[in-house]
Amino acid sequence: MNQMDVKAARQAAVAATVARVREIEARMGVTRAALEAIKAELMQLAAQEHLFPSTEFPPPPNGEKGSNRYLLREEEGGRFALYLNALNPGNSTKPHDHTTWAVVVAVDGQELNKVYERLDDGSDPERCELRVREEIMVEPGRGIALMPEDIHSIHTTGEKPTRHLHMYGLALEKLEGRRAYDDLTGQVSYYNKNFMKPTAGRDR
Ligand SMILES: [Fe+2]
Repeated sequence: MNQMDVKAARQAAVAATVARVREIEARMGVTRAALEAIKAELMQLAAQEHLFPSTEFPPPPNGEKGSNRYLLREEEGGRFALYLNALNPGNSTKPHDHTTWAVVVAVDGQELNKVYERLDDGSDPERCELRVREEIMVEPGRGIALMPEDIHSIHTTGEKPTRHLHMYGLALEKLEGRRAYDDLTGQVSYYNKNFMKPTAGRDR
């Protein structure tokens, strides 16, 4: 397949997957069961590695930190936003929430996700106490689904760059009131959504 054929095949596969995801959310709402069904759809998409070649979706050059985040598709109003994130090994984020549902699956590479539970009652807007509840290695064949209030952190601990599909109920640059949590100091801080625009353009 040449590059234009790959692009057309990718856009058709992405559109068909997103249509099924919309149908699942419409039928089941935002529940853990719905997110498991959405994850299954995205795993089928991610398994078609030839649609997401590393030549088209490289990580930052020279092993640099940070991610290249490519917007594959979003629906009107920024709903059902699907990105491909490419990261080099050695990256990690602080624990954070999303305020919308999120599903992450892998085309290639490994990303350790730590999912946290809050031990405090949430009454102090600036303080938290977190404990790791679960660790999930997102890699080909294994993904993760997060409810809007779930808190996770990611750590690219593998040997090669990641190409992971991230789908959110609402585009990242539209999310209000996201918070980051410092699991060591207990500090809670707010995200600046202006930093959340895609870094590497749209697949259009
Ligand atoms: Fe996240």
